[in-house]
Parts: sequence; C-alpha cells; structure tokens
Amino acid sequence: MSEGGIVFTSQQTDENLTGANTRRVTFGDVDQIGPDDLAGRYLRQFWQPVMHSHDLEAGRALPLNILDEQFTIYRGESGKPFVISSRCPHRSAPMHAGWVQGDEIRCFYHGWKFAGDGTCTEQPAERPAFCERAGIKSYPTQEYIGLIFVFFGEGEPPEMPRYPAFDSKDVVVTYDTYKRPCSYYNNLENSGDFSHIAFTHSSLHGSWDESNQEPTIMAEESPWGVTMTNAFPDGRRIVYQFGMPNILHARVLPDDPNYDYREFLAIWVPIDDDNHIQFTLTSTPNVPGKIEGYLKRRAERFAGYDQDPVEIARKIVSGQMKYEDVDPKRVWLVVLQDNIVQTGVGRPSRRPPELLGRSDACVLRQRRVWLRELQKFADGKPLKQWRYDPAEVPVHSEFFTTKKN
Ligand code: FES
Ligand SMILES: [Fe+2]
Repeated sequence: MSEGGIVFTSQQTDENLTGANTRRVTFGDVDQIGPDDLAGRYLRQFWQPVMHSHDLEAGRALPLNILDEQFTIYRGESGKPFVISSRCPHRSAPMHAGWVQGDEIRCFYHGWKFAGDGTCTEQPAERPAFCERAGIKSYPTQEYIGLIFVFFGEGEPPEMPRYPAFDSKDVVVTYDTYKRPCSYYNNLENSGDFSHIAFTHSSLHGSWDESNQEPTIMAEESPWGVTMTNAFPDGRRIVYQFGMPNILHARVLPDDPNYDYREFLAIWVPIDDDNHIQFTLTSTPNVPGKIEGYLKRRAERFAGYDQDPVEIARKIVSGQMKYEDVDPKRVWLVVLQDNIVQTGVGRPSRRPPELLGRSDACVLRQRRVWLRELQKFADGKPLKQWRYDPAEVPVHSEFFTTKKN
C-alpha cells in the first residue's frame, strides 16, 4: 500500500481481472443478495443459519424472510425442521397458515398436503388427484449449535462446517443475535476493523487508547478466509479469524469479572439488500462457581435494556439525539455503537470512494478475496474450497483489561 493510502470505489474489480471475462464483477456487487444476483447466488452455495432452534416448536409453521425471498419454515411433529416455498402451488395461499400434520403440512385454503421433501401427498377436492404435478420446492435443513441451517443453492449441499468450541459439553453457549438495518457486508467488514474499537467502542471495558497504544494491523489469507491480527507495541496480540463468505470466529472483549474472554462466533445473513441478521454465539467455560454469576449478571444486564438500539442509532445518525445522552444501562451499548457506524456508512454499491490506509489491511484483504471469488463464480471457474479447522486458524486475544489509560 502506498504512503498516502488507496482509493477504493464500488467500481473496483478483482486485481487479476483479464480482458476475456464474461462479466466484470465490481465491489458494488457484494451487497445485492437476491436469488438472481451474483453475490446472492454465491452466498447460497453455503449453509446459512436462518433461525434459532428454540424459536420453532414442533408442529409450528412460520413465515421465513431471508436472502430477499420468502419461505415457509415448519417443524414436523418428529422434531425435524423443513423449509419449503412460501406459497401453495395451487392458488398461492401462504403455506405457514396451514396445519402441520406429522412431518407434512396441509394448506389452509383447499387442503393440499405436502411432505417435507416437497412432494404433494393429497389433493382432497381433486378426483383423480394429479399430485405428481403439484410438488412444492423444498430446501435441505440441518440443526447444529442451536441454529437451523438451510441450503438454498442448486445441487448437492457442501459438508456442514463444525465448530468444536461451540458444541462442547464443557461450555455454556449464549445467543446475542440481533437484526441491523444495513447491508450484511457492512458488518462483515467491520469485523477486521480493529481501529474502530478504540473510538466507536471507546467507552467499553477492553478498549484502548490509540494515541499511545497504537497497534499494527495485519491480514493474511487463510484456508478458511482471512486471518486478521492486531499487534500492540508491547507484544500483546488479538487474532480474529474471518471465514468465507460471512463468518467470524474471535475471542472478544471481556464483559464479566468472572471471565477474561468470550469465544465468539458471528454469522451475518442478509434479510434483504438493506437489512441483515447477525447470529451471535458466545461460548463460556462451564466452571461451577463462576458460570452462575456470569449468567445472572448477563440476565440482569439484558433485563435493564428497555430502549431499541436501532431506534436510538437512527436518532443519533439523523441528528435528533446526542450520543452523550444515551443511558448505557438502558440500551445494549456495543450494538448501538456499531449500529451508528454501520448504518451510517451506507451500502458498498452506493458509497462515495473510500480512502483506505494501513489500518484497513483486513477490510482490504476481505474485499480482495471476495472480489476474486465472485469473479471466478461469474466466470464459472472452480471456487476456493474453504475449510474450518481450529488448529489451522486459531484465535487469540490479549485485550487491555483495564479501561484505556
Ligand atoms: S391454495 Fe393451497 S390448496 Fe388451494
Ligand atoms: Fe464494533
């Protein structure tokens, strides 16, 4: 990178783009995630979480809006989750209004019934029935680490990644999932933006003072995505692992006196181009004598939050409210702080050119990797097969455990 930084625009292409490409992929492509969009189709090549397992009881059907599409999700009486098209192929009734019967679902309008694989099994008013022509689209599902994952792509789904730090009996996993009204990509590339911690999150325990603790930020492509390192002059290091296409594994800021760090997994799934959900898992060692206090303080903290961090951020960004007037006991502060910056910067395809410096090394590497893979995807070339192996992509954290200076 040159001394004065580099200008990065929404028209930026892959570094190795050659003249023969069928479609010129630009950075502005990353935030269009519908079923016909390039980034939308790329994201659909991977298992995506859509819901917490505990939000779907057996026998219940619900509407599911994700990746700019509408589906019906239901849990059969056997406990297995199913995802099918939102509308009945007969006269378009919303399938989630119907009845779950066994592992099948019956339409509320004229009673057509479908198995979880989409096969039509009954058409009560049709004699003879023509079930073989009346299937509904269905999508493979899996449940893991308390989330329902769905594969929305074409063909065979890939193997489901496993995250041992979050599926062990020795830990307690808690869920800090939230929705944010901005592109998923804004959150994705905030993950390696270490320098924002000293400012956006300056009030948080574990933050630092950039004026005398200035770190060096480094990024390197890994077998899973990008290894993102923040190295302080005194030898402390923070290493986060970004997983392609939309995952972060980290050890994050301590939030309780009983524990030094929280093991953290975030997956950013677009709801549409301008909204996303971050599925957030934190894993804490289940140490008797420590975990009880941690869970109690956590529950008390959340019980005190009676203000919506999306609404407060909207008021701050629009100038109707000052950040200094926020009561940190009444709002989930870290989410509010990130809401302000991530909704404020606008989506990648509509941003003015950005001037990136050395501290943007992780942001830049994530963009380069994304652009390269999207260009290959557009050209029909083989994609890099990402793999998560915690031994290959270890996380590490040495935050300042006292407030800056
Ligand atoms: S619309 Fe579903 S059975 Fe008629
Ligand atoms: Fe942040």
